This record gives sequence, structure tokens and C-alpha cells, in this order.
Amino acid sequence: MSIAVFASGSGSNFESLVERSRKQWPRPVSLLISDKPQAGALERAERLGVPAFVFQPKSYENKAAYEQAILAVLQEHEIEWILLAGYMRLIGPTLLGSYPWRILNIHPSLLPAFQGKDAVEQALAYGVRWTGVTVHWVDEGMDTGPIIDQKPVLVEPEETLESLMKKVQFVEHNLYPATVYKLLTGKIPDRPSGR
Ligand code: GAR
Repeated sequence: MSIAVFASGSGSNFESLVERSRKQWPRPVSLLISDKPQAGALERAERLGVPAFVFQPKSYENKAAYEQAILAVLQEHEIEWILLAGYMRLIGPTLLGSYPWRILNIHPSLLPAFQGKDAVEQALAYGVRWTGVTVHWVDEGMDTGPIIDQKPVLVEPEETLESLMKKVQFVEHNLYPATVYKLLTGKIPDRPSGR
């Protein structure tokens, strides 16, 4: 039951998943996959001693070939769960078909509000009083799969993007590892009801 994290960015969620997995989960995170050679997540992987692989989509003929290359590494490492943590790409049929209801994502809003990029900025610009964080199963859409858990974050009148980002990330770093722990240990169902 090995676990891989996919990340494109700074990797703060990746790091919180690795740390919590080592302390609490039945299995630690054992692999990082990134689509960006300059992703901060890669430096964190090196520091944390987690094997990491970079796959750049432009090196492949199409998305299926790109995902097939990733799949080969996942299978070599006997990966059963994929945790997207700031992986800014849609998952295609190759990976979805090989990992039915075994791919999760974290998103920095209360979905279905503010899907896609810059969700914290979108929430602030809209003027909502509450935003938050969502953990969900991944399907073929962007931030659209069945929701597993959510946590609200209050937007104060004087909130700045920086301060709101900090509060949202603090909640992310707790909610994601806690939700995965519950899934892996059978405390909550490990697939959407009826699937
Ligand atoms: C996180 O806030 C994550 O929720 C978001 O990217 C950030 C990555 O930060 N993901 C999305 O917006 C997905 N649509 P990190 O690299 O520091 O973990």
C-alpha cells in the first residue's frame, strides 16, 4: 500500500504529508512525482530523503504517453495511492483508469466555489466571509470529484492575500494528512458511496 505525492509547486503540502505519514500512517509517503524541474517540492524531497522523479509533458508526444511513463514508475514502486498536492495538471484517462478512486486532491477553497488556479485570490476578490479547504477524490474534471472533507476559514475584514494564504495553508497542512490517515485506516469509507 505505497503512496506517491504529485506536486508542481513549493511543496509545503508534500512536506506535511511526508512528516505526518512517518509519524502516524500505516505507510509513509514513498515517492514524489513532479512535472516541473524547478519545483520547490524537489528540494524538500531531497532533504526529506524521498525518491523523486520529474516528468515534463513537453518531452512526450501526448498526454497518454506522458502518463504512461509516470505509470511505469508508479508500478515499479508498487504505488497504490496518489495524493495530488499542488499538482497543476488535469489527470488523464491513463492514470484515472489505473487508479480508480485512488487519487486524491487538496484544493484551497470550499468547492464547488473557486475552482482552478488562484482559488484564495479568487475568494478574496469575490468578498466572501468564509472560504476554506477541500479534500476530494479526483475525476476527469478540474477540482470536481466527490468531496471527502472540508474545513472553513474565516476571511477577516482587513484580510490580505498573504494573511489569508497563511491561514488556508495552515488548515491544508492539517486537514490533508488527517483525511488520508482516516481513509487508510478505515475510519471513513475509502471510495465514494455506491462506487
Ligand atoms: C496548495 O494551496 C494547494 O491546495 C493548491 O496549490 C497549493 C500548493 O502549495 N492546489 C490547487 O490550487 C489545485 N487546484 P504547496 O506547493 O506549498 O503545497
